[in-house]
Amino acid sequence: MDVEAQKRAAAARALDFVRPGMRLGLGTGSTAKHFVELLAERVRMGFDIVAVPTSEATRALAEKLGIGLTTLDETPTLDLTVDGADEIGPDLTLIKGGGGALLREKIVAAASAQMVVIADRSKLVEGIGRFPLPIEITPFGAAATRRAVEAVTAGVGCPGPAVLRKAANGHAFVTDGGHWVLDAKLQHIADPPTLAARLAAIPGVMEHGLFIGLTRVAIVGGPHGVQLIERT
Ligand code: 5RP
Repeated sequence: MDVEAQKRAAAARALDFVRPGMRLGLGTGSTAKHFVELLAERVRMGFDIVAVPTSEATRALAEKLGIGLTTLDETPTLDLTVDGADEIGPDLTLIKGGGGALLREKIVAAASAQMVVIADRSKLVEGIGRFPLPIEITPFGAAATRRAVEAVTAGVGCPGPAVLRKAANGHAFVTDGGHWVLDAKLQHIADPPTLAARLAAIPGVMEHGLFIGLTRVAIVGGPHGVQLIERT
C-alpha cells in the first residue's frame, strides 16, 4: 500500500466508530479528506449524521459532497471527532496544525466525547517534537509573542527558532480565524504538558498544536494493514 492508500485505509476503519444519529467533528488535512469522502458515501446511502467542520476547506468539501453541517453554536457537544495528526507519540499525545487549522481542531475535539486520530505510519514517533510545533498567534505584537514563545521553549529544555509561517504568496499565512502561525523547530519535546501550559499562558498565543489527553484511539495505516492503538 502506498501512503495515500494507508491514509484511506485508516479513514475507512474510522467509519466503524460512526453510528447513525451521531454529531461528528470533521478534521482537516489529506487524511481527514479521505474520511469525509468515505463518510459522504455512507450519507448518500441514507446514513443520518450531522457534522461540524474544523476548517473552511473541510466545510467546502463536506458541503460539496452533501454532508449535513451544523455549528458548535447550534450543537455545542459532539459524539465523535475524526481528525489527522502530524505526529503521534506513544501515549497518543499529538502534534497538530500542519494544515493551520489547530485552533478550530482543538475546539471541536474538546467539544467531542471521543476523538479518533487517523494517520499513515510515518506519523508514529517515539518522542514528539521533530515536526515543528505550530503555534497560532494574533498578528498584533507578533514579534513580541515570538520572543516570548522562544523564551518558553528554551526554558523547558527545547530551544529552537519559532518561524512565522508564510503562504505561497510570500506573505504571512493567515488561518481561518484571521491569525498567524509560528512553527517552533524544537526537535524533541521532553515535557509536553509543561510546555503546553507555558505556551497557553503567553498573551498573544491563541492556541498551540500540542493535543494532550484528547484522544484515546489512533488508527494507523501501514504497508501491511491498519493498526488500532488505544490509550488505556
Ligand atoms: C491540520 C492538521 C492535520 O490533521 C495534520 O496536518 C495532518 O494532515 P495530513 O493528514 O494531511 O498529513 O493538524 O491543521
